[in-house]
Amino acid sequence: MRVSRRFSGIAESATLKMGRLAKELKAQGKPVVDFTLGEPDFDTPQHIKEAARRALDEGHTHYTQAAGIPELREEIASRLNEDYGLDVRADDVLVTPGAKHAIYEAFMAILDAGDAAILIEPAWVSYAAGVRLVGGEVVWTKRFADRREEVTYERLEKVFTPKAKILVINSPNNPVGYVLSKKELEEIAEFAKDKNLLVLSDEIYSKIIYEREHICFATLDGMTERTILVDGFSKTYAMTGWRVGYAVAPPEILNAMLKVQQHSVTCATSFAQFGALAALRDERSKESLKEMVAEFKRRRDLIVEGLQKLGLRCERPDGAFYVFVNVETAGMDGETFAEKALREFYVATTPGSAFGPSCGGYVRFSYATSTESIREGLQRLGRMLEGNA
Ligand SMILES: Cc1ncc(COP(=O)(O)O)c(C=O)c1O
Repeated sequence: MRVSRRFSGIAESATLKMGRLAKELKAQGKPVVDFTLGEPDFDTPQHIKEAARRALDEGHTHYTQAAGIPELREEIASRLNEDYGLDVRADDVLVTPGAKHAIYEAFMAILDAGDAAILIEPAWVSYAAGVRLVGGEVVWTKRFADRREEVTYERLEKVFTPKAKILVINSPNNPVGYVLSKKELEEIAEFAKDKNLLVLSDEIYSKIIYEREHICFATLDGMTERTILVDGFSKTYAMTGWRVGYAVAPPEILNAMLKVQQHSVTCATSFAQFGALAALRDERSKESLKEMVAEFKRRRDLIVEGLQKLGLRCERPDGAFYVFVNVETAGMDGETFAEKALREFYVATTPGSAFGPSCGGYVRFSYATSTESIREGLQRLGRMLEGNA
């Protein structure tokens, strides 16, 4: 038996793999400090859980319309219009089982075998895997602000190939936590227009932002008709296990994505969609979100300061809950650092190599973990680096 060629070069998701190793060590009773988590460590707010329970009691236990329950599609559209001044209708919204599936559906809808997607590294691990799973090719460009490499028209032009059909952006970014500036977004928009590209804008961390303002890419001049906007409930409302996300895209693309959804998963889980509806409609969600973001901000300050004191270089994240740390000053590449930290000091991180071909000197820390764990993890890393000096 042999799996299809599609899987050549597709490894187990590095973030999930390190999380799994950390869990295995924990199960053996090791005192693991886990910086691999890609999800808020907060519980889903009670009123959201109650709404889902109510939906179960009321019999919402069957398939829904493949594109999602109409109330949720309407609510998502009006929220986007309110927040960003867009002109989205319910029909433009596809509710998906998580943003991840929306992204996969978009690649399926857009890329033929041999077509290319432009990714900006460091990039979340599942973009490249998704592109390759549908037979596409990845073209990389970079954005390392610590190396003064921001996104410009010129830099995009350098990697452009006529095979490129789509460019993926992710702001606030996983794993760096940067927020793309207005100027960068404008250059991306100009480039997309000139090269006739679609832009998949993954805005899953749009509400987890500390200093800068999030700009929705679809609001840029002429971009509504070129943008596949992806967002979801996982991060904003601590609902990762519920698997509800959504996409807004031009009709032809949205229809193709809907077909992928119809033939793969049918619809997002019925009662989870009612939970998502409560997340948007109930005013209490705003308070929970505010508290969560304030806590993440405190943790960000703690971890960034701690890592810098250890002599490690990292950009101060403006959003999301990750720090991407250059560990070359410690005389190691990211894999060696992550391996040593986990095996000898029980500190779990994700090696940077998972996030792009030039990311080998980095390690990602998620600070979606308690303040005590952050302090403990930093202390252990201090001991590791002393021993290494
Ligand atoms: C950048 C990015 N996009 C999408 C996702 C997936 O979100 P969801 O849980 O909605 O599938 C993640 C999760 O880690 C992410 O970091």
